[in-house]
Amino acid sequence: MLRNDQLDQWDRENFFHPSTHLAQFARGEAPNRIVTGGEGSHITDRDGNRLLDAFAGLYCVNVGYGRQDIADAIAAQASELAYYHAYVGHGTEASIILAKMILDRAPANMSKVYFGLSGSDANETNIKLVWYYNNIRGLPRKKKIISRWRGYHGSGLMTGSLTGLEMFHKKFDLPLEQVIHTEAPYYYRRADVSQSEEQFVQHCVDELEALIAREGADTIAAFIGEPVLGTGGIVPPPPGYWEAIQKVLKKHDILLIADEVVTGFGRLGTMFGSDHYGLEPDLITIAKGLTSAYAPLSGSIVSDRIWKVLEQGTDELGPIGHGWTYSAHPIGAAAGIANLKLLDEMQLIANNRDVGPYLVKSMTEALGDHPNVGEVRGEGMLCAVEYVADKEAREFFDPGKKVGAQIAGELVKEGVIARAMPQGDILGFAPPFCLTRAEADTIVAATVAATRRVLG
Ligand SMILES: Cc1ncc(COP(=O)(O)O)c(C=O)c1O
Repeated sequence: MLRNDQLDQWDRENFFHPSTHLAQFARGEAPNRIVTGGEGSHITDRDGNRLLDAFAGLYCVNVGYGRQDIADAIAAQASELAYYHAYVGHGTEASIILAKMILDRAPANMSKVYFGLSGSDANETNIKLVWYYNNIRGLPRKKKIISRWRGYHGSGLMTGSLTGLEMFHKKFDLPLEQVIHTEAPYYYRRADVSQSEEQFVQHCVDELEALIAREGADTIAAFIGEPVLGTGGIVPPPPGYWEAIQKVLKKHDILLIADEVVTGFGRLGTMFGSDHYGLEPDLITIAKGLTSAYAPLSGSIVSDRIWKVLEQGTDELGPIGHGWTYSAHPIGAAAGIANLKLLDEMQLIANNRDVGPYLVKSMTEALGDHPNVGEVRGEGMLCAVEYVADKEAREFFDPGKKVGAQIAGELVKEGVIARAMPQGDILGFAPPFCLTRAEADTIVAATVAATRRVLG
């Protein structure tokens, strides 16, 4: 292991960190953390801290840290065959086996898996496939993509456009014009506080219908959504939302892309979020939980309906013009196989159905009545605490006060990592699936202590 007193200096001089205040970091005003190890739900850093990682990295180390089976599978693949490409019908045993394992677990009517490296590139692939699909069907005008405000779909040019968070657009000349946004199913932040959940769902439907009418259904190709809004605030939709939205999409021949980068492979207590909410997607985006981030790998799961048209397209035009050097990288695939096996063997999805709701319930009991806690919410192994300046008036804090970030900072002093979500004073929890009830208790106790220290 590298032990170099200059590491901190080199970090600030050479390393461009994503989603970081670059100037403050370079000047040494913002802290860094150099992570050196991990086991189960905990990580250790170079300063000797052992922290309960209640966000599983970036909600991705789902099976937990330090799983030797996955490390061994990666090592075996690297020594046997570190790389071969997947172009023109080539492949490796690992990538073929993993595709079969994914389809065995996927919702009904799914046909093939295309492999990428990140959630962003998998969404990029999905948008290209949607455009190709409508061109082959002779509908060249039907191209716009509807996304939701507060959705998160990546930070590339197209995917950053799909993302409905201001920070990812500002000064990047995004969103691109092919992307249009609609209301987020965020009941707590509804504009009209008098609305019931049912009325709010109808409002979301009305907004979507109005957008489609304004733009013209013949110009709209697809709707993309996370089963549960993630980075936008960890917000489960109100009951009936997905059912109502899917009706609208079907009526207007608009495809559904389920972005399951966070929810895929068990986070909601079902294999896919689509199973949980009864979604019938045309394309599914997967990444994070596919390998539990032991190696970079993502995928686009393509439905029968889309696949048939893709086949038709290549009969008309020749080989599909899409692919990357690292598509279906065998090391990622080996990690994916070992990860999905472990998910089954350790019965981790069942654990999410037990410990996830326990965490949300305990957090609600401990903090629900705090005058600055507007809402505690969650679904499966996802939980969020939303802070407000005035609970009765549902008045939010001045963003400049960075209340959420302050509480997350205090939480680290208590030995727990949560995520201050980027838009709003929202503390997010997405622990590894191996979380125990005792560890959930630790998270709740730490959150209470951190909240009291910042807000009293
Ligand atoms: C729902 C969702 N989609 C896509 C992405 C983008 O994935 P990546 O960061 O691997 O590009 C993320 C990342 O957090 C995500 O949460």
